[in-house]
This record gives sequence, structure tokens and C-alpha cells, in this order.
Amino acid sequence: MNHSYIQGLFAERIGGKNYGKSAAIYKFEKIKRAKRAALAARPGEEIIDLGVGEPDGMAFPEVVAKLAEEVRKPANRGYADNGDSVLKEAAARYMEKVCGVPGIDPENEVIHSIGSKAALSILPAVLMNSGDYALMTTPGYPVFGTHAKYYGANVHQLPLLESNGFLPDLESIPAEILGKAKVLVLNYPNNPTGVGATPVFFARAVAFAQKHRLVIIHDAAYAALVFEGRPLSFLATPGARDVGIELHSVSKSFNMTGWRCGFAVGNELLIRAYGDVKDNTDSGQFLAIQHAAAYCLDHPEITGEIAAKYSRRMTGLVGVLQKCGFKAVKPKGSFFLYVKAPRAVAPGKGGRIEFKSAEDVSQWLITEKLISTVPWDDAGAYLRFSVTFAAADEADEERVLREIAGRLGKVRFEF
Ligand SMILES: Cc1ncc(COP(=O)(O)O)c(C=O)c1O
Repeated sequence: MNHSYIQGLFAERIGGKNYGKSAAIYKFEKIKRAKRAALAARPGEEIIDLGVGEPDGMAFPEVVAKLAEEVRKPANRGYADNGDSVLKEAAARYMEKVCGVPGIDPENEVIHSIGSKAALSILPAVLMNSGDYALMTTPGYPVFGTHAKYYGANVHQLPLLESNGFLPDLESIPAEILGKAKVLVLNYPNNPTGVGATPVFFARAVAFAQKHRLVIIHDAAYAALVFEGRPLSFLATPGARDVGIELHSVSKSFNMTGWRCGFAVGNELLIRAYGDVKDNTDSGQFLAIQHAAAYCLDHPEITGEIAAKYSRRMTGLVGVLQKCGFKAVKPKGSFFLYVKAPRAVAPGKGGRIEFKSAEDVSQWLITEKLISTVPWDDAGAYLRFSVTFAAADEADEERVLREIAGRLGKVRFEF
């Protein structure tokens, strides 16, 4: 196949004529390759996958039944555009009942999304010009920043450090960057740290946004997955609706990652602008799916059941890792456990292996112990363990945890 002239046509934002020629292998590809190699070297053995970033469970049967009912309705068949009132009204009820944010106007302050990822990829078109800055936390979910850069904007990274409770230090931003900044993107409970924000931090963020004329986008993809109490919505902060919006999704909180549905809620002007660009980007999520998602929003007890499972697994995993020397602390929500990576390991058969990075540790864990994790080296060396590992039932969950303990118990980590 001759690709010669096509290769010369690619946009600079994806590498221009050098698109596809880089030899760099990205983190998730490295993990995949290491898994394949480990299985090939030890056929038939079980890989324990603690690296997965999505629920292991199915959508609940009543939600599947609701979808089946909605699929049959002729009125739902066509382009959904920016959606009908069903999801909008359910979202407003959800914000009040589950998140403690009353008074959301469903018509003007809510629009559905085809998942938070889609919303984060559209929102830069709403706000970012060439040369503008987006303030984003690192490590983190990069989609808003990737698209902001596509428009010629820049990303200023705010490290999430244990010493600051994995919250960004807003005062650390240099004045010349702050002068060009338009957006602060937050995500709590956070991927990958699993840590939640506090009302005090959100209040500080709102005051900061007002002072520096910033928009806040709060990605609340994990907000509903809390182990106790109610979710902490950014919009519950006084003044939040004057400066920003929040993105909710049924992906993680209702085991519906593949269904692609969520909603943006908050500042009316931002929601209108998001709707305008969205309308020029997609034709809306299938109304049957939106209506099934609306059903979910009226049944938050489903999330409660899912969160209880993650909480139980998290308690087990924290215990196992603590026994192996990790400084694991159970988070208050999400399904991520973020722990400092060891500096070295004595594998038990003599010798000692030093690790230069979390990525080294992660590769060693897959290769030697058939345990898959996700490494983060962006702000210190950490491993992310996810409790969405495959296990058929509670007994199987305990078996998997014993298996992890057995595999890691034979070695000595140094931190
Ligand atoms: C922080 C964060 N935001 C957004 C998403 C995407 O969510 P959705 O499935 O709603 O697009 C993810 C998925 O992994 C995520 O971790």
C-alpha cells in the first residue's frame, strides 16, 4: 500500500508528516504487552488484573429491562440532538436528592453527554483559544488538555502531592500563567489517587476562580461512589454555579461504561455554549439509553450496592497490601487505591532488585507475579490498584485477595 501523500497530509496536532513514526510505547500499551508476554511465558496461570479502570459488573437487570422497553418506542428512534426533558429532569432530581444541590433548572442548567469523556473533548472548543492556558491536575485524566492543545492552547500541570492531601496547590501557579488561564479542571474523587475533595477546598477553588476569572469544570465521574455519607458535589459550594459546571456519568456509578451517557450541569451560560458546540459535534445519545440512564438517576440505591462491593474489596486489598509493607490507606470512595511504589524488592530467592520508577515496579509485578497495576510517575512514583478485578462472587473475591497475599507475601519490598 502506498501511503506517501496521505502521510504528508496529517495535521500538526497529531504529529504532521511524522504521525505514527514515533517509536515511543505508551504506558497502557506497555502494560498490555507485558501481560501478553507473562501469559506466554507461564501459560494457564491466572493474571490478577488490578489495572482495570472500569466496573467488572453488568448494568443491573432492571436497567436493562428499562432499556428494552424504551428501545421499542417509535418516539425514541431518531436523532436525539441535545435530548428531551426526561434525563434533564431526572438529573435535576438527582442533584437535589443525591448531591444535596436543590433548585437546578432542568431546561437551562442540564444537558446530557455521550459520557464525560465526550463532554471533556467538546468543552475545550467552548473555551480555549490559541495561547490560553488550562490548569489541570497531574496525574490525571488528560482528555480536556489533549483537546485544548489541539486548539493551540497550553496546559499548566498542578501536581497532586501526598503532602497536600492530593489537592492542587492553587497558590503555586505563576502569575504570568494565571493571567492567561481560563479553566481549572478538577476531578474528585480523583482518578488515580482515589482521594476526595473537601468543602473547604471547593470553597477555596470557587473564590480563586472568581478572583482570577476562571471557569471550573468539575469531572465528577466517581462522585457517587462513596463508601459513607453522600457524594460531595462541587455545585453544593456557595457560588459554584456562577463559575462552573459539573460532569456526571452513569458509567462508573451504575456499571454502564459501554452505554455512553452522562450529563453536564451548572452555570446556565456554559451549559448553553456546551449545547451549541455539542449540537455541532454529535447528534445526541440514543433516547432509549438516555431514558434508561434517567431511570438510574432515580434509583441511586443501585450505586449504593456497587459502592458497598468496592468498599468490601478495598478493605480486603488495603489489608493485604499493608501486610506486604505498602502504606495503603483506604480511600473514602471510587475504586482506586493509590500507593507509593516500592524502591526495591528482595524476591526471596536471593538478590535485590532496585526500581527506578513506578513503571519498573509495575512491569516487575506483571512479569514475576502476574499482577497487573497501573504505574504513575507524574508526581512521585505510585501504583494504582483497582478493586474492579474479576471475581464471580464474594467467596471468589476472598480467593483472589488470598492469591494476591500469597504471591506478594513471598517477597520483601523496600520503600
Ligand atoms: C476521571 C475520569 N473522567 C472521565 C472518565 C470517562 O467517563 P465516561 O465513561 O463518562 O466517559 C473517566 C474514565 O475512566 C475518568 O477516569
